[in-house]
Amino acid sequence: MKKKLTFLGIETSCDETAAAVIQENNNGSAKILSNIVSSQIDRHREFGGVVPELAARAHVENIEFIINKALKESQLSINEIDGVAATAGPGLIVCLTVGLNIGKSIAAFSKKPFVAINHLEGHALSPGLKNKLEFPYLLLLISGGHSQYLVVKEVNQYEQLGTTIDDALGEAFDKTSKILNLGYPGGPNIEKYAKLGNAKKFKLPLPIINRAGCNLSFAGLKTALLRESKKISNNIQLKYDLAASFQYTINKILEKKTIEAMKQFRNKNNSNKKFNFIVAGGVAANQSIRNNLSNLSKKENFEPIFPSIEFCGDNAAMIAWAGIKRYKKKLTNNLDFVAKSRWQLDNKAPYLKGPGLKLSKNII
Ligand code: KG4
Ligand code: ZN
Repeated sequence: MKKKLTFLGIETSCDETAAAVIQENNNGSAKILSNIVSSQIDRHREFGGVVPELAARAHVENIEFIINKALKESQLSINEIDGVAATAGPGLIVCLTVGLNIGKSIAAFSKKPFVAINHLEGHALSPGLKNKLEFPYLLLLISGGHSQYLVVKEVNQYEQLGTTIDDALGEAFDKTSKILNLGYPGGPNIEKYAKLGNAKKFKLPLPIINRAGCNLSFAGLKTALLRESKKISNNIQLKYDLAASFQYTINKILEKKTIEAMKQFRNKNNSNKKFNFIVAGGVAANQSIRNNLSNLSKKENFEPIFPSIEFCGDNAAMIAWAGIKRYKKKLTNNLDFVAKSRWQLDNKAPYLKGPGLKLSKNII
């Protein structure tokens, strides 16, 4: 019988310290032997956002305990594991370095192969932990640091169709919650309070909605929201209405841009068959976004797939899984691999963010 591959995954790119042991079954599906995530939300709450130095310190304090816990729960020793995968970017360098270094050390002393993982590839392949995925598929990756439409052609083969030209979607949720004083982390709180509000109360802008292909922009929306928030003082019902209107507007933007991305995806693949449309990353946990994109996919003849909620946010199961997938393609790394704060999945994609950068004509 074919030996099952088992990987230890380590994730410390932002504010979650995570380790997991994942095995690939003979039919290609994943078996989750352990999946430990230690969130630092409480440490960052008083600052309303992730403080890199605090996050790095917490990773250093917790990482050994979390890895030991993941191994213990999997009932495997490090000698019974086939390889080690650790997130190497993109993210906060001081945080990435903690998990990457310990991953490399474990690989070195146990003489196991090492795989450096792009965190975005972890998210991109994460639905494979629960579903059988067929390449190519269309991916919408929406997290705290990234918002992108990608064609996933294969493991390690990505083509970016669109990205945000300013804030990431998770960042827009977090900033909105901060403006409205609805709590940290923003995404889940906006979702919660939006349920109590009237989504049609405020008319907010839909930036670059009729241009720039499936590129996204959320900064103008945030500015408009800030303006409205100043007019409502502390009226709690109006705050809920604003949260609901924000989420409604996001859904409108995603609807329009997803139709455009689906059109581009179909043209590239030149087929009317039913492809998978995968929505991954922390914001994919949002139920109203899940429902909307699910309905839209059915209309557009795409099969919608969302990772289960536990695999939407940052976790190490997706990192171990990406490690297995890369290892099978012989994409292992040397132990001198260094952390990268920026690391695009499609290295030919234009970088559209940053001060002084202008959108070129072919993008707009
Ligand atoms: O993927 P993730 O855990 O970390 C990054 O790689 O960035 O995503 C975190 C982001 C945060 O901005 C958080 O507010 C957002 O995902 N998020 C949500 C929800 N849950 C988490 N946004 C909207 N609705 C949610 N339910
Ligand atoms: Zn993430």
